Amino acid sequence: TIQAVIFDLDGVITDTAEHHYLAWKAIADELDIHFTRAFNENLKGVSRMDSLKLLLSQADTPVQFTDKEMEELADRKNKLYQSLIESITPSDILPGVAEFTAELQRRGIKTAIASASKNAFTVMNSLGLTNAFDIIVDAAKIKNTKPDPEVFSTAAELLGVEPSHCVGVEDAAAGVQAIKAAGMFAVAIGAKEAFPQADLVLSSTSELDYAKIEGLFIANS
Ligand code: BG6
Ligand code: MG
Repeated sequence: TIQAVIFDLDGVITDTAEHHYLAWKAIADELDIHFTRAFNENLKGVSRMDSLKLLLSQADTPVQFTDKEMEELADRKNKLYQSLIESITPSDILPGVAEFTAELQRRGIKTAIASASKNAFTVMNSLGLTNAFDIIVDAAKIKNTKPDPEVFSTAAELLGVEPSHCVGVEDAAAGVQAIKAAGMFAVAIGAKEAFPQADLVLSSTSELDYAKIEGLFIANS
């Protein structure tokens, strides 16, 4: 049986994946690096510094930055990101999310947020969702980021639920890998072909449907 559902934040609860992209795009433009939306898919779910490294790997001629310069670039991206998310309100919760979490609550199923973002608490606060989930994992305390399972395993532990009774919801390839590595049922949001490892792929959050997920979960276990 499903005892907990653990959600990614950026791109699942709200469309901050777009804000991350726009902030990285501004940095890439500044550095004259070609940075496409398609390549940005690789950055989803990935930590700030690893995202910067991926972005720099797109330079035509390899550029060498010192650690200090790397910190400054990452910091600048974060400041841009933070200015973009200043205007977030509860109306930015993605379609279907409130109904789905309400259904989980009615059924006594626990909920958590497992995000790689150090801005997760700010975003959750702006969405008015801080108290709507049982646990929000603190990304600052996670050593190994997605695709490592640590953030999902930590969420399950804090909820006191075995991974085999957990469902993870993600919009990133690295995130789906993390859910599967944690031994959980994976629901991906996005294009089917992007998530070969997922147990269920939904084209959008408005498709989140408890009965459908439970049916597949039971069939798979
Ligand atoms: C993830 C996003 O949730 O958090 C990534 O998908 C982002 O795009 C990562 O890089 C880290 O976020 P932050 O806010 O700590 O830079
Ligand atoms: Mg995401």
